[in-house]
Amino acid sequence: MVWLTAYSAPTARAMDPYVDAILVGDSLGMTLYGMDSTLGVTLDMMIAHGRAVVRSSARACVIVDMPFGSYQASPQDAYRSAARVMAETGCAGLKLEGGIEMAETVRFLIARGIPVVGHVGLTPQSVNRFGGYRAQGRTADEAKKIMADAKAIADAGAFAIVVEKTIEPLARAITKAVPVPTIGIGASPACDGQVLVLDDVLGIFDAFKPKFVKRYAEIGRDMRKAIGAYAADVRAGRFPALEHCFTESTAEKKKPSAKSKQKR
Ligand code: KIV
Repeated sequence: MVWLTAYSAPTARAMDPYVDAILVGDSLGMTLYGMDSTLGVTLDMMIAHGRAVVRSSARACVIVDMPFGSYQASPQDAYRSAARVMAETGCAGLKLEGGIEMAETVRFLIARGIPVVGHVGLTPQSVNRFGGYRAQGRTADEAKKIMADAKAIADAGAFAIVVEKTIEPLARAITKAVPVPTIGIGASPACDGQVLVLDDVLGIFDAFKPKFVKRYAEIGRDMRKAIGAYAADVRAGRFPALEHCFTESTAEKKKPSAKSKQKR
């Protein structure tokens, strides 16, 4: 399965024909909003971006991330947040981070009609507990705990589980052990599917490149080049040229419709 993140209408529209699922990830806190972690992302932010993505996709399954603080306190609290996201975005399901400790909440949501995707391994909302973004499952105890987390979330009824940044062969073993699809990110080619953050894939976020990312374009570099060229053209008086201006003759030839008049 092919999953990819999107936070906006144009990116959702571009990927919709190619991917099985679109994840409106809370990674948007870092990639779009310039935050240091995902901890500052709010439910309102996820709903606004979730809505844009749902509106702009026709066939892919859209999953929205539950942000930090919106579901951890209790299953009831999680339901209130989850119901808002489902009702206000129209998405197909939600993703939340955590293992054994979140299993009761996952079961509670699913019993009330909310499809859930789990997320184990490196769970970025727990960055302060991990002390950074290091790969997880380095020791036998750590690997055992992540395996138990994945099993607990699958038992609770999650329809897929994202496995993030774990040491192989852990994700391979999890994929064999759980009856639902695993979606890897920095995990294993043996996972049932893969997900990446679009900004990493396109090189939009190019401050650094995580080892597990493969870049398919250099949009960040091209964007800087284009903006630099525009700035140079304006300063040199090369833009706008006559072709970009409205003259009597062009105004006569093309009468704008009422709709386009309103927009411009
Ligand atoms: O927020 C996100 O983009 C994610 C992916 C990294 C899986 O959770």
